[in-house]
Amino acid sequence: MKNILTLTLIVLSLVACNNSKKSKKTEQSPDLQQHVQKDKPVNLNIDHKAYKMKGMLIAKNTFRIFKGKIESVGSKKGLPAVVDFCHDNAMKLADSLGKTHNVIIKRTSHKLRNPKNKPDADEQAVIDNYLVKQEKQERMEPVIMTDGEGYVHFYAPIKLKDKCLQCHGQPGKDIHEEVYKVIRAKYPNDKATGFKTGELRGIWDIKFLDKK
Ligand code: HEC
Repeated sequence: MKNILTLTLIVLSLVACNNSKKSKKTEQSPDLQQHVQKDKPVNLNIDHKAYKMKGMLIAKNTFRIFKGKIESVGSKKGLPAVVDFCHDNAMKLADSLGKTHNVIIKRTSHKLRNPKNKPDADEQAVIDNYLVKQEKQERMEPVIMTDGEGYVHFYAPIKLKDKCLQCHGQPGKDIHEEVYKVIRAKYPNDKATGFKTGELRGIWDIKFLDKK
């Protein structure tokens, strides 16, 4: 029993409060760029491909580091403690990882757990665009866009996997009561449940601080 529990924890830990996007081909989305940039100057000289590669690497690296931290918490203290850990450390960890790459790493969503992860206007437009694609069952590709201040952003979808259900699925069915208790206590306004595997859970927004 204990072994099974430990194993479950390790599997869960792999994903707990972070997520990586294994991206394949990347395409920019001109309609979205237009939508977001309406009245803003668009920098046409940026190297989209280089930014996409860099963005993807940073997202992966962030996930890898989270994974290590969460694994050790999960195997020592259990899944509810992982929720606790995420509550206290997810943002701090993303901040410090961002500093090493000179970027700001953010995850946001249309259905938030932590209200501090609230989307800004550009992120909301990216999410809306992905939701339309989801509806039409089209591919959601990573996007590079310049914001109103001239900073380049990498956006990519975060999709729900089976293992995420244990904290983002249906309470009582996918989410264990004990885990849900901690979630409710830490996040009284939690909207991030009821997801199904494969659905859009949110997005990465990686902002490059070195202006071109
Ligand atoms: C152990 C429970 C747990 C598991 C498993 C889990 N999450 Fe979360 N997730 C959380 C918590 C807690 C937060 C809030 C973190 C914070 O305070 O910033 C969160 C936040 C997020 C956010 C940020 C947006 C928001 O709502 O605040 C995304 C995106 C996300 N999770 C995606 C995933 C994905 C994708 C998976 C599976 C690969 C997953 N999560 C698995 C607990 C979990």
